[in-house]
Amino acid sequence: MNKINEEYLLYKKLCKNRSIRLKTDELTLVESLKKKGLSIIYKDGFYELTEDISILSESEIRSDLGIVENSKIDKLKVIFKTGSTNHKIVNYSINEFYTVLVAEYQSKGQGRRQKKWQSPLGANLYFSVQFHLNEMVNIAFIPLIVARSICNALSDQGINNCKIKWPNDIYLDGKKIAGVLSESRYCNEKGFIIVVGIGININMYSEQKIDQEWSSIKISQNKNFNRNTILSSLLSRIIPDFDNISEFNFERFKQDWDFLDFLKDKSVCVLDDNVSYTAIATGLADDGALIVLYKNKFRKIYSGEVSIKVTK
Ligand code: BTN
Repeated sequence: MNKINEEYLLYKKLCKNRSIRLKTDELTLVESLKKKGLSIIYKDGFYELTEDISILSESEIRSDLGIVENSKIDKLKVIFKTGSTNHKIVNYSINEFYTVLVAEYQSKGQGRRQKKWQSPLGANLYFSVQFHLNEMVNIAFIPLIVARSICNALSDQGINNCKIKWPNDIYLDGKKIAGVLSESRYCNEKGFIIVVGIGININMYSEQKIDQEWSSIKISQNKNFNRNTILSSLLSRIIPDFDNISEFNFERFKQDWDFLDFLKDKSVCVLDDNVSYTAIATGLADDGALIVLYKNKFRKIYSGEVSIKVTK
């Protein structure tokens, strides 16, 4: 058995029993699990997880999904470790409907604008959804639609008050808890192939080196959440939203967006490559851009390399 499989087995054993005795040859495995961010303490001859962890499981995720959504997920794969689920999923074949890949740990979690996405073992959700689109739709809206699906799914789980910081950061209690990294490519046979990567801080609580204010659902709600349940809830929102994408209606979407808009009427600092200026965010344009008011004129901002910071 290779080392990763051994680590996965030990990880599963710890998740199941929480506190275990180890054989000498398992000690190096524990060190590797700790390096991946798993919080383990040693007490009276036992190695113990400091938190309960419900291991990610395909059957648990599927059991909470409706028949229709289940039938639309051609492949749902849970893996222990990868660099980035967005990079890994492109090696999977393009199926009729949706492919979902979820990892317990990412060693090179990728954020927008070449940033790193902290992905400690067993703490959060890191997953990607791959699908293809035959019809022409404005791809710029995909990450925005996903951001709305995330807010709705979390609200279904009783986590209210999530907001979207344009284009697709999810905020809870004024701090970032989730992000979306969406990528697309064109292939003659299948049309546009879309990969949407989603990272949600679920049970992360310890000090993580993240260069912006962050939170997690656990910090906000003061309890642990089962990642399988949250993932099912997300998929049951995301899949119908993608299924209906050809009927996308901007006016209807804008109503939802206005309600969820974190930046609305806030003073923001727009950081382009080498220019930065302060403006007022006024809302979403019909092509997915952010509208800001700068020196009494409205300007459209397109995501690309731009970063928006709320000025205090
Ligand atoms: C951002 O807000 O910067 C986007 C973060 C996206 C993170 C997710 S985690 C799953 C998928 N795999 C990655 O490497 N990134 C996305």
